[in-house]
Amino acid sequence: MPRKIVAGNWKMNLNLIEGIELVQKINTTDTDVNVSIMVFPPSLFVNGIKEVNSEKVQVGVQNFHSEEKGAFTGEVSISQVKSVGGTIGLIGHSERRELFNESNETLKLKVDAAIQNDFGFIFCCGESLGIREAGTEIEFVKNQLEKSLFHLEADQIKDGIIAYEPIWAIGTGRTASSEQAEDMHREIRKMLVDEYDTETAGSISILYGGSCKPGNAKELFACPNVDGGLIGGAALDATSFCAIIDSFK
Ligand code: 13P
Repeated sequence: MPRKIVAGNWKMNLNLIEGIELVQKINTTDTDVNVSIMVFPPSLFVNGIKEVNSEKVQVGVQNFHSEEKGAFTGEVSISQVKSVGGTIGLIGHSERRELFNESNETLKLKVDAAIQNDFGFIFCCGESLGIREAGTEIEFVKNQLEKSLFHLEADQIKDGIIAYEPIWAIGTGRTASSEQAEDMHREIRKMLVDEYDTETAGSISILYGGSCKPGNAKELFACPNVDGGLIGGAALDATSFCAIIDSFK
């Protein structure tokens, strides 16, 4: 069975004090023990968040560079993230792809760096509204996975996490219906079975992201192939984030 995961992507929101308060509240709220909880603050805050954090919440970064070190102004490497206690990173969020021109090739290098450094990752994929309206979303997502992820061996990908985030549902308040989410998640699971095997496909958590909120999380998480969520806006408030965590019950 894939792990149930609820992850909060804070994006470029909250200052350090607000982030610390949020994590402290998550730590002290009685939430479903069967759900793995992760937060992705701005990398600048990983250290400060780790200092107040309990074991309950895994802390990661929203982005990292594939190189170990060097002249890459403004970037952070995996070993730097690990040195302050970060254990996992997002790869290929649509905002990185669209606003920072991250290509499938760049993302493949990040996937390889994560594997080589024993660093967890959530690989993000998802189509724009235009692609959904053209009806080619499955091929589009398949191409993203094939170009950046499916070169891994089964024993390398088995601990990875995939997040399906349709761009048209991110920050728009327009969420995918549970049917739309399940349809794509089922397709992704099938791609994993075809590329690897049933056991490997069954070990990879596939998260949904895009306007997931306390009001719709229960229905989304009830879908057989939705193993949790990557949450943006609703992860900035402890009450709504914890309500989403408890939506599996
Ligand atoms: P929202 O939940 O704000 O739509 O953001 C989703 C997202 O991009 C998470 O990575």
